[in-house]
Amino acid sequence: MRSFLLTLFLTSLASSHPQHSDCRCRPHQSCWPSPKEWNALNSSVDGRLFAVRPLADVCHNGGAESEACQSVQALWSNSTWRAAEPGAVQWVNWEAWPERGESCFIETPFDQPCEQGRISLYSTIATSPADIQKSVRFAKKYNLRLTIKNSGHCFLGRSTAPESLQILTNGMKDIAFVDDFTPEGGPKGRSEGPAVTIGAGVALQELYAALGEKGKIAVAGSSHTVGATGGYIQGGGHSFLGPWKGMASDNALQFTVVTADGDLVVANEYENSDLFWALRGGGGGTFGVVVDVTLRTFDEAPLVLAALNISTPVGDPRFWDALTEFHAHLPTVSDAGGAGYYFITPNNFLPDRNMTVSGVASLLLFPNQTDTEKINQVFAPLLKKLNETSAVTTEYMSYSLPDIHTLVSTVLIPGDADVTAGIALIGSRLYSRELFASKNGPSKLTSALRKIRANLGDVYTGHLVAGGAVAQNGKIIDSALLPAWRETLVHLTMSRGWGPDTSLIEQEVIRHNLTDVDVQILRSVEGSDRMGAYLNEANAYEKDFQSSFWGDNYDRLYAIKQKWDPTGLFITRSGVGSEDWDAEGLCRAKHGYPSPCQF
Ligand SMILES: Cc1cc2nc3c(=O)[nH]c(=O)nc-3n(C[C@H](O)[C@H](O)[C@H](O)COP(=O)(O)OP(=O)(O)OC[C@H]3O[C@@H](n4cnc5c(N)ncnc54)[C@H](O)[C@@H]3O)c2cc1C
Ligand SMILES: *[C@@H]1O[C@H](CO)[C@@H](O)[C@H](O)[C@H]1NC(C)=O
Ligand SMILES: *[C@@H]1O[C@H](CO)[C@@H](O)[C@H](O)[C@H]1NC(C)=O
Ligand SMILES: *[C@@H]1O[C@H](CO)[C@@H](O)[C@H](O)[C@H]1NC(C)=O
Ligand SMILES: *[C@@H]1O[C@H](CO)[C@@H](O)[C@H](O)[C@H]1NC(C)=O
Ligand SMILES: *[C@@H]1O[C@H](CO)[C@@H](O)[C@H](O)[C@H]1NC(C)=O
Ligand SMILES: *[C@@H]1O[C@H](CO)[C@@H](O)[C@H](O)[C@H]1NC(C)=O
Ligand SMILES: *[C@@H]1O[C@H](CO)[C@@H](O)[C@H](O)[C@H]1NC(C)=O
Repeated sequence: MRSFLLTLFLTSLASSHPQHSDCRCRPHQSCWPSPKEWNALNSSVDGRLFAVRPLADVCHNGGAESEACQSVQALWSNSTWRAAEPGAVQWVNWEAWPERGESCFIETPFDQPCEQGRISLYSTIATSPADIQKSVRFAKKYNLRLTIKNSGHCFLGRSTAPESLQILTNGMKDIAFVDDFTPEGGPKGRSEGPAVTIGAGVALQELYAALGEKGKIAVAGSSHTVGATGGYIQGGGHSFLGPWKGMASDNALQFTVVTADGDLVVANEYENSDLFWALRGGGGGTFGVVVDVTLRTFDEAPLVLAALNISTPVGDPRFWDALTEFHAHLPTVSDAGGAGYYFITPNNFLPDRNMTVSGVASLLLFPNQTDTEKINQVFAPLLKKLNETSAVTTEYMSYSLPDIHTLVSTVLIPGDADVTAGIALIGSRLYSRELFASKNGPSKLTSALRKIRANLGDVYTGHLVAGGAVAQNGKIIDSALLPAWRETLVHLTMSRGWGPDTSLIEQEVIRHNLTDVDVQILRSVEGSDRMGAYLNEANAYEKDFQSSFWGDNYDRLYAIKQKWDPTGLFITRSGVGSEDWDAEGLCRAKHGYPSPCQF
């Protein structure tokens, strides 16, 4: 018996079948594709395969004065450029591999070596489903670590992985409108009404621009360069239009997907409905490569915008009472159809007033409404309460806007770029309507926020993006979306950063404090497993991420993952099935013997 087990053990070590290997094939190993084999892949994708180096590489090895380096320096914080570059993501901490001491920042001295970090070694810059299919089959055949990158905005580092082959979908920009969408395989005559089919690389600002030309609108997020089709919608997709029309994923009618076998399939209510279920909230990079998605569109509508600011001199305890009042009023705002964002800054320097204040600045909108007086009445009781305290300064304005497109292009995402190239980790929680509506809920939330250290300039962002249609859709839509979203009113985020030259030890202190202290404080408000967190804007090291991100849907998601991707070709950090792998997705985690991947 013992020698039988030993034989099995040795056989498994010696196995040359990539499918049965416990680790991905890595560049120093004989299983790694030869130059000839890489060339064959390159030909099959019409020359769109590239060897990739970090962006700042051109500045090293004496290149500091070169034109290439100057261009990289000029573009460094350009999110459109970063989205299209295979050697970049948007949060540069995910380009580095600090555990290995590898990084290549633009800020660090150019005489230091430029290390690959988590930047992929090769990238297929895909322009067609066939490019994706060929790359998927190649990765499967050679047992490579595969990554899918669209915009690279993921806060949890899901679009990079060390020693990987990348599929870059950012160039797939097709947008096609239909007046009356019929899902494939659906009953004859079945119509879903007006819709738009968008390619995998369409950015939110490109989607809004195309919709604007048609006098249409769709549920999407508040960013220029986040992708509409990738991680955003597959993670659920919250929106300032959510309370009006539901989550972005609630409005997905059909996906076209390249599976782990390299097949091109349709997923909708009628065909591959389990995949359709998983792609609406199960998370990006996990079930296949989405080639396009078809979204419901709506007619443009006017809206009322209300802006309410509250502030006190910094450190005045009455600020926290005002925040409690503000939060207690949100169910009323929600009942009036309100949605939007608010920014809590407990410790903020205002240059124009030359003083440091504690403040809340909010932007709340009421789609398909025109009567500002009616909206003023919604805020009047709150303003009255706040005005009773002389230490609290309030500013309130309401406006009527002709259409949502105007709101998007002049208020929410003016200009054409997102702030990028920062180093950040975030912490977040979903909070229920019940919390805000309960007698002590708002003050409980305030006490929690007071326990978190607010450095100068720190912002906690409240996203009033649920309630209304998001809640109502819970009764009619069955998808992988975390069920707690249907009870949510606010998604609250905070972030912590560090500098490019911060040591690994200091980084770990910051990361641990965020994960083990700050997030636990946010989590404690409604009890540890009451609500959960939004998988796209959450802590990258979230504890029990399976229940935080998917709740009771996790087991079904895991089973669907095993069906569509039994060998684990598509693995992302804190994604469905990622617990079977190490943190980088390079080796299977449950080893009977020491992993050759332990660094
Ligand atoms: C400035 C900013 C604003 C944001 N605003 C919002 C908002 O309003 N609402 C909201 O809900 N979220 C918002 N987010 C979060 C956003 O949804 C996530 O960062 C999301 O992961 C971005 O998706 P992406 O495809 O653009 O990014 P990427 O980092 O490229 O991809 C994210 C994940 O999706 C996978 N993926 C990408 N493309 C595909 C594909 N075609 N098929 C399969 N998997 C794919 C990747 O492998 C990765 O796992 C915002 C983020 C930022 C930085
Ligand atoms: C793939 O082919 C193109 C066009 O011939 C070439 O520019 C590119 O460098 C090749 N990629 C690799 C990895 O060799
Ligand atoms: C950002 O990069 C894009 C794409 O490379 C370019 O079109 C745009 O002009 C750049 N924007 C700025 C402000 O440099
Ligand atoms: C806006 O409201 C009107 C009724 O007031 C309704 O007929 C119309 O369908 C609404 N528009 C959208 C896009 O929901
Ligand atoms: C700002 O305030 C500080 C301290 O209150 C004061 O010393 C300084 O002169 C002020 N600066 C300006 C530009 O008013
Ligand atoms: C409260 O103060 C704001 C700002 O000064 C003002 O616009 C508003 O009318 C006041 N509201 C009430 C109800 O007193
Ligand atoms: C609220 O504060 C923001 C940021 O300081 C400012 O841009 C906005 O004009 C203010 N809103 C009102 C109603 O004063
Ligand atoms: C950890 O976080 C808490 C809460 O935000 C804060 O009070 C404390 O100073 C932090 N500790 C470190 C070492 O950063």
